Amino acid sequence: MLAVLFYLVVRTYAQQIAQQSQDRILEASLTSLMDAAVVREGAVEVDVPYAAFAMLDTAADDRVFYAVHQGEALLTGYDGLVDGPFEPAARPAFQTQAFGEAEVRVASLTQSLPASPAPVLLTVSVAQTRDSLAGTLLAISVNAALFGGAFFLLAAGMALWTSRSTVRPLSQMAEAVARRGPRDLRPVVRPVPTELSPLVTSLNSLMTRLSASLTQSETFIAEAAHRVRTPLATVRTHAEATLMRVDKDENRAALRSMIRAIDESSRAAGQLLDHAMVTFRGDQMEQRPVDLVAVCRELVDRLTPVAEMKDLVLVLVAKGPVEVQGDPILIQNAVRNLIDNALKYSPPDGAVRIEVGADPVAIVVCDEGAGFPVGQMAELSQRFQRGVNAGDTVGSGLGLTIAQDVAEAHGGRLELSNADGGGACATLYL
Ligand SMILES: Nc1ncnc2c1ncn2[C@@H]1O[C@H](COP(=O)(O)OP(=O)(O)OP(=O)(O)O)[C@@H](O)[C@H]1O
Ligand SMILES: [Mg+2]
Repeated sequence: MLAVLFYLVVRTYAQQIAQQSQDRILEASLTSLMDAAVVREGAVEVDVPYAAFAMLDTAADDRVFYAVHQGEALLTGYDGLVDGPFEPAARPAFQTQAFGEAEVRVASLTQSLPASPAPVLLTVSVAQTRDSLAGTLLAISVNAALFGGAFFLLAAGMALWTSRSTVRPLSQMAEAVARRGPRDLRPVVRPVPTELSPLVTSLNSLMTRLSASLTQSETFIAEAAHRVRTPLATVRTHAEATLMRVDKDENRAALRSMIRAIDESSRAAGQLLDHAMVTFRGDQMEQRPVDLVAVCRELVDRLTPVAEMKDLVLVLVAKGPVEVQGDPILIQNAVRNLIDNALKYSPPDGAVRIEVGADPVAIVVCDEGAGFPVGQMAELSQRFQRGVNAGDTVGSGLGLTIAQDVAEAHGGRLELSNADGGGACATLYL
């Protein structure tokens, strides 16, 4: 746009200057013609000087016309070049008009010459075609266009260079920040242009605050579970001990419901904090190789005593190690909840199968119980949602939510199904 504007301004200005210089020569020619006019015995005589036309010579061989009028009558020259009425004036009048086939610039001047008995009104007009002017203008226009174009290219190049060199440190910084691990909240130390340093400073201060608040949450989650569970366990031990010493039925019933309430609170606190931990770690997940079979084997070993109390066996089915990129603590938490459900909701004297598949990567936990309550399967993995079969088992309705969140954090999903021969199957796709 600037280049076009530049072109137009230069062209208009050049046109004005060229016109002015043509007018000036026309005026000089006019003056010398006017000077050559004399009034002798009431008649006007003009001895047309050669120089009056010679000065109008141009490289483009422009044609020159002239006319001399006494009053309204043409004395000499071209008829129709100018029309009256003529009024005396101090300065010549200029006009661009068509004459014959050509376009001409006409200058004419009317003066009153003293004579007796009355002064004579003499009008001298000189006209010139505009070929040379047009040629000059064309040359100037071409040059202006070339300059405009070069100006545009230079400006565009410089603008590109400037924006690149401004944006480059920004994108390098963005790349460096994007490459970082999820827990890397160190301040950015890359050198950046002065204009960007307020941005970097506020980014760094944000990182510092974020890092502090993340550490706080992590500590809170880790400590809270411990701090809630330990006193609850103590109260539970006391309640159980008291239960053994109390004989009255109503007191025993009260103590039993107290123990149950303690169990519920302890479970709820544990599951809530586990859920918070899963959400927290899932948001900024650490990716490292995890062998799913090893994770499941450790859980089976740990939960076998619990299973044995219910006369259940835990069977681990796996062909070989299955490795995924993920967070072992999260995966372990999810599978523990699935096994925990199988142990809670299936009848004694059965088996719980934990199968690790490699293609697709999945952990399937199947039991031999009554299966998930049909009709409720879609909502069981929502927060605090328990099934109609939960009855009076202790639980908070967060186990499947945790498993599902873990699967999603690993780009997978949780699928619930009931086996044909009975039994619930929960599949954790990772
Ligand atoms: N293996 C299973 N067999 C039958 N029903 C199940 C099984 N696993 C889960 N359910 C049903 O799904 C519901 C939701 O399970 P979830 O694990 O989310 O919560 P919960 O076990 O009730 O509580 P908690 O948070 O303590 O695990 C359970 O209440 C139960 O009704
Ligand atoms: Mg559960």
